[in-house]
Amino acid sequence: MRTPQVVPDPTLPERVTIYEVGPRDGLQNEQTVVPTEAKAEFIHRLVDAGLPVIESTSFVHPRWVPQLADAADLLDLLGEPGRDMPVLVPNERGLDRAVEKGVRHVAIFGSATETFAQRNLNRSLDEQFAMFEPTVARARAAGLDVRAYVSMCFGDPWEGEVPIEQVVTVGKRLYDLGASQLSLGDTIGVGTAGHVTALLQAFNDSGLPNESLAVHFHDTYGQALSNATAALRHGITTFDASTGGLGGCPYAKSATGNLATEDLVWLLSGLGVETGVDLDKLVETSVWMAGRLGRPSPSRVVKALSG
Ligand code: HMG
Ligand code: MG
Repeated sequence: MRTPQVVPDPTLPERVTIYEVGPRDGLQNEQTVVPTEAKAEFIHRLVDAGLPVIESTSFVHPRWVPQLADAADLLDLLGEPGRDMPVLVPNERGLDRAVEKGVRHVAIFGSATETFAQRNLNRSLDEQFAMFEPTVARARAAGLDVRAYVSMCFGDPWEGEVPIEQVVTVGKRLYDLGASQLSLGDTIGVGTAGHVTALLQAFNDSGLPNESLAVHFHDTYGQALSNATAALRHGITTFDASTGGLGGCPYAKSATGNLATEDLVWLLSGLGVETGVDLDKLVETSVWMAGRLGRPSPSRVVKALSG
């Protein structure tokens, strides 16, 4: 059996968008540097499986994330379709490199906490805005779409609890630079369902509707799917996920894999929520990638369906 029994829930959205981050969040954290050709094949397989949005790579400093140092070469291999795939850019230098390759969607990534801003961006919490402001302004002037991430929304490995008001203040400020969407990152996977609902409500109360929000869960404590369900019930319709459950941030202590796309698709299929994604093809892709990385996918759905 390859699909769950479908029992639709009429209170849920009919369709949601899965924003695939496997090639970026997934591969940035691997010990093995995956060859550029294999990354391109991974992305082609994800396109073939029906994923509507695929974040392909990062134009960050190659010394900071050597795993993605081949961003420009990857874009060359992907050709025209690659230009519609979002990439991370931290600053104007990253934007220039992305624009040179014809990229049309970029994502900036800010931190809700002081310590992670310093560890991940070499900037203070305030200084990160000075870096992002001209980056977003120039991207928008060039007609690019900009997504904004905010990390450490549910807890920080150095600072512990992160007040909801602090996350909303930083997140709104990032969004207001000119982003079309704000993705709320549980970078170290410590969030729980009630916390998710409370944070989403706080953003709504600050003037950001669900349509402007996405959720980005890591699965360190096994809560990613539960947190996604809470967000779905709250009315969120964009979910970040990583095929095979790859992922993590090299600059965040204790960050592990993202919510596995397969686990999310299984849940949504059972609820009768459309994603347009072919689960069989996704599982085949994860098995193939696990072979390349030399270790099995942590996704329960991948394990169950490939056994
Ligand atoms: P820095 O050392 O402060 O850089 O790093 P700088 O601005 O001082 O520049 C120093 C030199 O680097 C200059 O060259 C720049 O041109 C060059 P020089 O003049 O000395 O010859 N440089 C660059 N070269 C290529 N590409 C660039 C670039 N920028 C500067 N983009 C920087 C600051 C932001 C660059 C660095 O900290 C960095 O690259 N950080 C990225 C860290 C990262 O990628 N982390 C993982 C992604 S975030 C994440 O995973 C979380 C997320 O998934 C959501 C969640 O889970 O919460 C999104
Ligand atoms: Mg992440």
